[in-house]
Formats: sequence, C-alpha cells, structure tokens
Amino acid sequence: MNLKKSQLIFTLILIAFMSCHAQKPTPMNTKNTIEQKIDALLKRMTVEEKVGQMNQYNGFWDVTGPAPEGGSAEKKYAHLRKGWVGSMLTVRGAKAVRAVQKIAVEETRLGIPLIIGFDVIHGYKTLSPIPLAEAASWDLEAIKKSAQTAAAEASASGINWTFGPMVDISRDARWGRVMEGAGEDPFLGSKIAEARIKGFQGDDLSAVNTIAACAKHFAGYGFSEAGKEYNTVDIGTSTLHNIVLPPFKTAVDVGVRTLMNSFNEVNGIPATGNAYLQRDILKGAWHFDGFVVSDWASLNEMITWGYAKDKREAAKIAATAGSDMDMEGYVYIEALAQLVKDGVVSESLVDDAVRRILRVKFELGLFDDPYKYCDETREKETIGSSKNHEVVLDMAKKSIVLLKNDNKLLPLKKEGQEIALIGALANDKSSPLGSWRIAAEDDTAVSVLEGMQRYKGNTLTYAKGADITTEKATFVQEVVINTTDKNGFDEALAIAKQSDVVVMVLGEHGFQTGEGRSRTNLLLPGVQQELLEAVYKVNPNIVLVLNNGRPLAINWADEHIPAIVEAWQLGTETGNAVAQVLYGDYNPSGKLPMTFPRNVGQIPIYYNYKNTGRPTNKDNNVFWSHYTDVEKTPLYPFGYGLSYTTFEYSNLKLNGNSFKMGEDVKVSVTLKNTGDLTGKEVVQLYIRDLFASVTRPVKELKGFELVELKAGETKTIHFTLNKETLGFYDNDGTYIVEPGDFKVFVGGSSITTLEADFNLID
Ligand code: NOJ
Repeated sequence: MNLKKSQLIFTLILIAFMSCHAQKPTPMNTKNTIEQKIDALLKRMTVEEKVGQMNQYNGFWDVTGPAPEGGSAEKKYAHLRKGWVGSMLTVRGAKAVRAVQKIAVEETRLGIPLIIGFDVIHGYKTLSPIPLAEAASWDLEAIKKSAQTAAAEASASGINWTFGPMVDISRDARWGRVMEGAGEDPFLGSKIAEARIKGFQGDDLSAVNTIAACAKHFAGYGFSEAGKEYNTVDIGTSTLHNIVLPPFKTAVDVGVRTLMNSFNEVNGIPATGNAYLQRDILKGAWHFDGFVVSDWASLNEMITWGYAKDKREAAKIAATAGSDMDMEGYVYIEALAQLVKDGVVSESLVDDAVRRILRVKFELGLFDDPYKYCDETREKETIGSSKNHEVVLDMAKKSIVLLKNDNKLLPLKKEGQEIALIGALANDKSSPLGSWRIAAEDDTAVSVLEGMQRYKGNTLTYAKGADITTEKATFVQEVVINTTDKNGFDEALAIAKQSDVVVMVLGEHGFQTGEGRSRTNLLLPGVQQELLEAVYKVNPNIVLVLNNGRPLAINWADEHIPAIVEAWQLGTETGNAVAQVLYGDYNPSGKLPMTFPRNVGQIPIYYNYKNTGRPTNKDNNVFWSHYTDVEKTPLYPFGYGLSYTTFEYSNLKLNGNSFKMGEDVKVSVTLKNTGDLTGKEVVQLYIRDLFASVTRPVKELKGFELVELKAGETKTIHFTLNKETLGFYDNDGTYIVEPGDFKVFVGGSSITTLEADFNLID
C-alpha cells in the first residue's frame, strides 16, 4: 500500500468516527471518541513509530540548551520522514511550522501530526512583563489575559504548546530563573499558575487561538542549592509537599495538559528518572492524564549525574519512571524500541506514554486540521496588533511596585520641571524585554526615555552616565559586565545639578536573569552604585527606577534615595508603563511576590519561615536565632508595596472564635482609602497554625483580594477559611487538618499586625 493511500484510509476512519458522534458532542463522548481513535491508531503503530511519538527534536536554528551528541539537521529530517518524531520545539512561524508538519502528515506512513512546542514565557513577540513582575500585580484577571494574548500570538505563528507556566517556588534570588516564576509563596504561586494555564488553554483547547500549557519543572528546581543553576536539590518532605508541589497540584486540578520534569535530583534521584514524583504522585495520586516532557536532554544528563550508565539504561529508567517525551536527548529514539523488543521495558508503558501524547494532539484538533495554526494571514493580523499592545501595557503598569516615596516626590509634576534622566537602562530598548523572548525582535521595547518624552510639559535631559556592558547581550551567552569606565559621570552630574528631579534607571540587564544566570552578588552591577552615589551628592532629589529580574540588595538606596520604583523588566511597553506611573496617570498597586534581602548572606529569606526554638532576644545575650552583623528582617517583605494614596485597615472580625472541623471561618476587615487619590490595594490574609504535629510557618498566605477604592471610600472585605486552607501536608504527603489554635492576620503586606484568634475543635 503506498503512503498516500494509507493516509487516506486513516483519514476516512477518522471522518467516520467524527460523523457518528457529530450529533451529540457532549464532553463525555468526545473523550470516549478520542480514546477509541487512540486505540485504533495504537493498533496500527510499530514499536518504532510509538517511540517516535515520544521523541522531540529542537528546530534548526535557535538552541535553548547545549547541543547534544548525535544530532544533525539531516538526521532530524530523516527521522521526521520515517514518523520517528512526535514533536518539535522552537520551530516558529506559520510557514516554517507548515513545512515540518507537511512532512509528518504527508510523508509518513500514518500521517500523525507533530505537536509544536515553544517557550512562550511572557508573550511571543509582543512581550508582557517577565513572569515575576506579572506576579507582583496579584491581578489574576490581568495575568490570565496576558497569557491569552501570548497564546493568540504564538498560535498564529504555528505553535500549539508552550513550555509555561514555570510554577517553581523559589526562595533564592541568586537563582536566575526566579524571573520566570511567581515568587516564593505556594498559595500565590498556585493562583497564578491557574490564571496562566486558563489563559493559555482557554475553555476549548481545540480553538485556534489557544495552546496547551506545561507546568514546569517537576519538581524542586527552584531549590537548587546555593541558587546555583542546575545544582543538586536537597529538600525535606515537608518542604516538598507543602511548598514545592502545591502549584503543580493546582495545575493538574485545573487541567494543565502537560508537565515538564526538571534537571535536578530529588533525594538523590534525578527528576527525569523519579518514579515517586511522576508515577506515584502525578499520574497516581493526582490522576494526571496529559503527558510529561523531559527537560532539554535531561534523559542524557542522568548519565552525567552518575545515575544511568548509558543511553539504554537512561531510556529504561525514564520510561519506567513516567517521562513520556524525550526533549532533544536522542535517548528514546536510540534505545527504547530495542528495550521493548528485548522485553526489558513493557510495551504497555510505551503505549501509555503514546496514548497521553496522542490524547493532547487530538484535543488540540491537530488530527482534524494539522495546519490550523499555520495561517499566514492570521499571523500577520494577530502578531503585534494594537489590542495586544494594550494588554501588555496594562499588565506592565499593574506589575510596578512602589517601594519608597518620601515626601510624596512621586508622582512627578507634569509641567515646569527640569528633569534629568540618567542610566544606560533608561535608553535601552532591548534589556526591558527581559530574558526568554526568542521570538521577539531585539530593540522593540519602548524605552523609559521614549516613554517620558511623551510628556511634553517638562524639560527632559538624558545622560547615560555609564554602561552596564559594552557588548551585545544575547540569550545564549553570559552578559559581560565590563564597565569600569566613568567618563560619562561628569555629563550625568552636570544635568543632575541643574534639575528639579533626577530619574535614574538602574539595575540588571535583561539577560542577567533567566536560565543559566545565577549570581552571588545582588548589588547593582558595574559602576551603577558609584554613579548613584555621585549623583546623590549633587542632587538628592532622586527617583530610582529599578530594572531587575530578581530581588536585589539595595540597602544604600533605601537609606538615602527618597523614591524607589520597582519596574522589573516590563516587556514591549516598558517606557510607557514607567512614564505613566511616574507622572501619576497610573497609581501603582503592585506588591512584592518575593522578599528583598538586606544582603545576599540572608538568602534564603522568605516570609513563611519557621519560628525556631529561639526566635527572640529574650535574655539580651547572643543565644538566639539571628545574625550578629545584620538584622534578620528583610529590607522589603513579601507582599509589600505602596500606592500614591494610603490605606487603613480596621475592624478585623471573625464569625466566632471556636469552630467545628469542616465549618467555615468567615473573616471580615474594613479597608479605607485615607489618601486623596483613587487607588488599589491587595488585601492579604495570613494564618498561623500555632501548634501542629509538623511545625508550621509563622505566617501563611491563605487569601487575597485586589480592591479599588476612591479617596475617602471604605469597604468591607470578606474571606472564608475552610478545610482547603487550614490544613497542611504531613511528611507522608497526606493532607490533614488538625484541631487547635490559629491566628489570622490581615493587612497590606506579610508584616501586617492586625490579628485575631480562633480555635478548631474536633
Ligand atoms: C530548558 C529549560 O529548563 C526549559 O524550561 C525550557 O522549556 C527548555 N529548555 C526548552 O527551551
């Protein structure tokens, strides 16, 4: 039988299936139909074709990891033609995707379409703020919309699967990938994971503008020792179950279709080969029915870790442990079919992995129309549309956190002012795009200079002061901080001297965070600190606008500089967002999703720490849990952020002080806008379980609400605590709610002091 004929027959079978069921498209029979189609297809597949579905190749240009041995474009094309490739990553553009899809669909025996993955991390071409910045908005609707927009652009460019969201919780600002996550808290992280997944996947995965999401990296990657990239992870079971796993569990509960495992080991077992994580927890206890993709060559890396002796052993371990797809590792494709033939790996394990992969392909509608994401007209219309720019601008403004604003230096007056704008990052159109933006063109961000130039009532003068790097920073190379040159200082000081206000845009280059970008120093890179201090001497009226992808240690600035704005890397619309906030056309409401340390030595520092046996200096001696050289409190706590208006909390009430197990605890608090501007506040609720069979943190976020109030307006905010929020995981991973005493705290940050008590009785 020739190839075209076999494909035709298969298509006819599918059409017959579809028309039989066309009358009653209930979710149930759609699901059944998909399973029947998979059964039919699996019966026709050879072992090699099955293993082919489990094989993913990188495209032919961008790399996002080290080149593995044995890969070449010729080999990839040859394997594509044989039906030995189930997925490709980093192929992009409607035309390029159509070309590879055409090979899979029209030149292979069974014509199974490829699923096309891409790191759509904070937008595709029109970029939103980096994920950590978005998390600072605490605005779940805006975050969902940002992911929706990213999905719309990516899907118009041939992509149907993103490797996002990263839901790794991390307490270590040294780790470069904190820019990619939602910060340090599992409750906030879970809510944001849900918003992002719903944004990417929508209500209908088969819609042309939605894509499959991927919760990553399963699991523990955010706890890489010493914040060093790809390092060992050594966490206890309590941290694993209560801090690391909850956002993944939420992801599965809200229907994420894929997970990616991680480069690290957990308890000495690489995540890729970890059956406890992938089989027992994910596919067992959580009933996950999508598929798990490995991280880039992580099957191979089990050999380097010293866990598998060769590719054959790595393939056996990974397949047995539940890694369904091998990303650019050449391990399954080289070894798995033979392992099945030798009876070492059961074919049913392979069938299970293939079923999961095919299921997602069916759900995406790829079997109905493999070219549905390859419409060049839609691509032109969708990418970079003004609607998308509006969405990312809105998200950018919402992501900004006001850290300090003495004497109401901000907002800036719109007229009659001499403003000096200083700093290399103020005139940079690339760095604000942040890391992970492979599809975006360089230099497409609106710079802060451009954003501020739109306000014409003041005189604006710009001087760079000093570079951070003189080399072109890229996604694949280290950013070289090579600046000792202070020749630009004089010009900066001269314009600062004659200005009413100095706006300084300082921080990290956008490529100083992200994968492979761990740092041991959290100070301003290069000579920026010197520049800041020099300018301060001639004009202390400074607004410091920070650009960074992680918490920085900015003690000196906090002590001296009157106004500090955390502006992260805000994506394509950076300059407009910053200018609108500086000029008060947008009142900032962001709150930190990660604690800012006083210095790097405090790391890991996080709000939900354990009390220890010696938390305070009771006897006025040294025998308590502290540092002798710096306070143990952070510089800025989790949940902290100011507004141009002020808020007052009062009247914290519970609907009782003793509750039976299973009863709802209703909490209310009064919030008043005591300033003279409309503003938004993130009202945060924390609990403390005072005595438990496993010690509990001093505070745990269990609710939040973003509330907008006019000047003088008052509102009562309501929260409910119940068994979902009052319990925790014991050391076996069982969720339990224990009777006992609790405290409730409500306020505008994690150091809120308004509190109430209650107890739970059996
Ligand atoms: C490695 C990264 O860890 C992962 O997050 C990413 O999705 C893949 N490379 C693909 O680029």
